[in-house]
Amino acid sequence: MHSVDATTEQMIRSVLAYAENRLRLDPVPLDEGDRDPAVLDVAVAGLLGDQPHNPDQVLGVFTSCLAPAVISADSPRFLGFIPAAPTKASLLFDMLVSCASIQGISWLEAAGAIHAENQVLRLIADRAGLPPAAGGCFVSGGSAANLSALVVAREVAKRRAAEAGEPGRRWRVAVSADAHSSIINTLRILEMDPLTVPTNDHRLTGGALRAAIEADGDPGSIAAVVATSGTTNAGIIDDLAGAGAVARDLGAWLHVDGAYGGAGLFAPSVRDRYAGIEHADSFVVDPHKWLFAPFDCAALIYRDPQLARSVHKQDASYLDVIHGNPAEWNPTDYAYHLTRRARGLPLWFSLAVYGVKAYTEAIEGAIGLARLAAGEIRARDYLELIREPELGVVLFRRPGWSPAQYTEWADRLLHEQVAFIPPTAWEGETVARFAFLHPHTSEGLVREIIDRMR
Ligand SMILES: Cc1ncc(COP(=O)(O)O)c(C=O)c1O
Repeated sequence: MHSVDATTEQMIRSVLAYAENRLRLDPVPLDEGDRDPAVLDVAVAGLLGDQPHNPDQVLGVFTSCLAPAVISADSPRFLGFIPAAPTKASLLFDMLVSCASIQGISWLEAAGAIHAENQVLRLIADRAGLPPAAGGCFVSGGSAANLSALVVAREVAKRRAAEAGEPGRRWRVAVSADAHSSIINTLRILEMDPLTVPTNDHRLTGGALRAAIEADGDPGSIAAVVATSGTTNAGIIDDLAGAGAVARDLGAWLHVDGAYGGAGLFAPSVRDRYAGIEHADSFVVDPHKWLFAPFDCAALIYRDPQLARSVHKQDASYLDVIHGNPAEWNPTDYAYHLTRRARGLPLWFSLAVYGVKAYTEAIEGAIGLARLAAGEIRARDYLELIREPELGVVLFRRPGWSPAQYTEWADRLLHEQVAFIPPTAWEGETVARFAFLHPHTSEGLVREIIDRMR
């Protein structure tokens, strides 16, 4: 299994050939294989047993049955949820990271990889206007980042209360109903409760936050405020400056969830909407979303990483050796993890190869396409735009359609390999939603999709 023998040589040829072909696909097709577990069961039957199989036979099962049953999130026709659009450079470098088993746990073991990852974190921190001391690490996704950040927020609140001699209590986090579902999951895991702030038009503002806290009457229980810089469903950027000011008055932690929309910091046309992000105590952006990195990659940055370290650092006798020199940066100390792959490296390579300007242009492209789509929707009398897009998400309705009609329309588009555009819900109503991200999604495709709602 670990020597370079005939089987290895065969796999180097066939697996790399598959990877090469996949990399050369331009555009990447959507695919729609059989999702029936019984069919998939038949396809893989007998492969996992005591006896070996020819690698080409196994690869054949993957290529013919399993791979087609994965809708390509990196297709320019994938317009649902939050798509992906990893650059060719980042995909290639991800292979290198895997083939070279590059981990990014501690400076002792992986200084070179960590140094490069930290350059990327610094680039993002600079875009957010965070101070020079800011830093963090890459984790697997926005959910992991939100959890890791809010653990720190809760511990900071607990410590402050303990120092003031206050009794232990159950902590709360002020959020809007449009915060990502992972925030609510996180609160449940951490045994904290949400203080759900009613908003006008789904945007958390300083005024709404202050009013909710005053009405609630227990400001001392609030450990953190969570603001979102790009809600998942509608791409709305909260009033970060207002939320930050309220958090500061309360002495609470400000966490900004930019898992989807944080990439907009690189887009001059919308940068002013992020005003106030520089006050965040913690901030997340997922490069596997709109910074064109492969799965799975989320950047988690703290204003004061030493606070995060005091919460997340794992102590064990065999780990003392990595903690001997406080000047050495151990990504493992800044989130809920120990072993980690150097998942920031593909982004580092890609940024260096293409230059940041190419990223700015690609992000602006998706914002521009959302604006164009909004105009096209407004121009059709059988459609209604639900709200002006702020980033790359566009919500719209076909008045008179039932949920089943949206599903039929979406199913047909997928079946014909035109687009993957599952409907969503907005204020209880089933509606249509574009999530633009891939720079090669065409204006023509947008028109074709909406023309087919006539
Ligand atoms: C705003 C926001 N936060 C958090 C997440 C969760 O990120 P992940 O799926 O990488 O865990 C998402 C995912 O879409 C998101 O849009």
